[in-house]
Amino acid sequence: METVKSLSAAEVIELCLRHTLYDWSAQQGLNPLAVAGGKGVYFNTVDGRRFIDFNSQLMCVNAGHGDRRIIEAIKQQAEQMAYIGPFMAHEPRARLGRKLSELLPGDIDKFFFTLGGADANENAIKIARTVTGRSKILARYRSYHGSTGNTIQATGDPRRWANEVGGGHVVHVLDPYHGIECGWEDATQSLATLEETIQLEGPNTIAAFILEPISGTNGILIPPDGYLPGVREICDRYGILMICDEVMTGFGRTGEWFAVDHWGVVPDLITMAKGLTSSYAPLGAVGMRPKVAEYFEDHVFYGGLTYNSHPIGCAAALGAIQAYEDDDMVGNAQRMGAVLARHHRKLQERHPCVGATRSIGLFGAIELVRDRRTMEPLAPFNGTSPEMKAISQALLDAGLFTFVRWNTVMTNPPLCITEPELDEGFEILDSALEIGDRAVKN
Ligand SMILES: Cc1ncc(COP(=O)(O)O)c(C=O)c1O
Repeated sequence: METVKSLSAAEVIELCLRHTLYDWSAQQGLNPLAVAGGKGVYFNTVDGRRFIDFNSQLMCVNAGHGDRRIIEAIKQQAEQMAYIGPFMAHEPRARLGRKLSELLPGDIDKFFFTLGGADANENAIKIARTVTGRSKILARYRSYHGSTGNTIQATGDPRRWANEVGGGHVVHVLDPYHGIECGWEDATQSLATLEETIQLEGPNTIAAFILEPISGTNGILIPPDGYLPGVREICDRYGILMICDEVMTGFGRTGEWFAVDHWGVVPDLITMAKGLTSSYAPLGAVGMRPKVAEYFEDHVFYGGLTYNSHPIGCAAALGAIQAYEDDDMVGNAQRMGAVLARHHRKLQERHPCVGATRSIGLFGAIELVRDRRTMEPLAPFNGTSPEMKAISQALLDAGLFTFVRWNTVMTNPPLCITEPELDEGFEILDSALEIGDRAVKN
């Protein structure tokens, strides 16, 4: 084979910007990192810089970078059979279906495999509409469910606004959280709002309520106890299917295999992606309970994907799950989650700009404010500010990568992280937050 000369960091960046489109951005002025590889909680750039990954990329590389077990599973499957069509049966599909039916809560034991999170949600919505014969979908405002047709309509946050087309039949309800200035409702109040919305919309017109059990990009919103069991009860009462979007929370992120496990709730449909393969290969899935799957015994499932049950995706998922189990990464997320929560508390004590911290397992966020009394956020809803931009840049300059959105800084490292690595990341955060402190009025 002809050897190909590697590109420099500058060439990689220039070609990527010239010929490829980047997500959720005006392209002008973008300056992406040219990444060469990674190991564990670190990744390194083509020009030799090293970053601690405090967001597992998009909260998805749960096993950490460069895990040999997942890489070997993919390599072996590529040698054996890289692709076969979705009408065939094959071993990785068989093994993964069985494994997921063991891991998923309750009696969820049938799976439709997709390529990622959005198409898992698309198919969950399609299934819910088909099975119930109803058209409306309920979703929450502070949510993200994907960037495709139905999922961007279901998304409640401002990423929906530019994508809205009429007739999506999605109704949004308020969340228990009302932003840093107003705070939280209790479960009873929030469930009352949900039920009122259902009444006003007409219960018999609603196919499903899709929700992230713990909202992710909208700020790691952990619902008050009683909320999810209450949603389950309301859905049952009105014959509405409950779809839990565990694309981000699944596979150990919150210190349980799935976020719903914290409250013992079994949804009718559950969607997953990201941590399913630790993102080493694209794969998503819709899991369903027998009462949903049974419908398709004698009705056609009008859905399909060329890459349904892709052998390499399925093999990557089996490799990732093996890695989680071998190293007890779900337990580690719980143990290190306690360390992360301690760091959060310390930051809140030390920094007047820290208005709130939230975490569950290794799923965490810090909300910054410019006024501890009024809780005015350091950047407005759906906006940024010079201080948030400066904090973001200071973190990168000090070698920490994470997700900074609006007034929120995320802390979602890979589940293999150790205590010294957490200490290292939080030391960088501690010094960058001084920028925020200087903006605080009171
Ligand atoms: C909760 C949730 N659902 C769905 C998606 C969409 O997944 P994908 O980007 O794989 O389509 C995401 C992506 O961030 C997500 O966080």
